[in-house]
Amino acid sequence: MNLILLGPPGSGKGTQSSRLAKEFKLAHISTGEILREAVRSKSYLGEKANHYIHTGQLVPDEVMIEIVQERLKALDCKEGFLLDGFPRTIHQAEMLEAFTRIHLVVALKVEEEECVQRLASRKTCPGCGLTYNPVNHPPKKENVCDQCGAVLILRGDDKPETVRERLKVYVKLTAPLIEYYQRTGRLEFVDGTLAPDKILQNLKNMLQSKILLWK
Ligand code: AP5
Ligand code: MG
Repeated sequence: MNLILLGPPGSGKGTQSSRLAKEFKLAHISTGEILREAVRSKSYLGEKANHYIHTGQLVPDEVMIEIVQERLKALDCKEGFLLDGFPRTIHQAEMLEAFTRIHLVVALKVEEEECVQRLASRKTCPGCGLTYNPVNHPPKKENVCDQCGAVLILRGDDKPETVRERLKVYVKLTAPLIEYYQRTGRLEFVDGTLAPDKILQNLKNMLQSKILLWK
């Protein structure tokens, strides 16, 4: 099963993808995480991507397409994968169609203001990528990841002005993907404003019913 989780910055893609990937034994591919790792390790890719990330702009399509095409060749993708943050433009989506099959695209619906509020207080785990929020999704122990015990960090692109820019970019370049996937009958919406556990349950129910249909 090859899935895409779509949604604006702060809609909960990372939160749901990590859990869903574990439940369904899918490779979780977060392009944002791949880029942040490249920035941390000061690789050539990281140096190229840093400026785009910190100004809220998209890294050029050609760079992203090559990264994902290579990543999908890995052994852990053979039984299925979950894309979190890719595709983000129509061109990326078209190229993705050329090299793999996508079974379903799930769009998380959350209003812009809620996304801004969530990102203003988000904490991220540098170890496993889980995300937390002291207001509505706190870790069990303050500042420590429930899953892997790493100390939580703040992301460099979560400043309010950068978040606004990321949301503008989402509306202009990524939101058109909703219609793109709707046209091929592979899009499902999920209410992203419920509690994370409830959303996960809804996603699991939906995927289980789809799997039965695909068999
Ligand atoms: P990326 O890392 O993909 O960031 P994003 O899409 O902006 O999304 P976020 O990771 O900020 O939010 P999320 O939807 O994962 O929400 P989360 O689960 O964390 O990309 C970063 C940058 O990399 C891009 O701006 C771009 O520069 C570059 N890039 C990446 N991919 C690219 C591509 N394909 N092409 C070009 N450039 C690319 O949740 C947010 C917060 O809300 C957390 O605090 C969480 O705990 C909380 N929360 C989650 N769910 C709930 C809930 N149900 N109720 C209450 N709180 C919740
Ligand atoms: Mg994320």
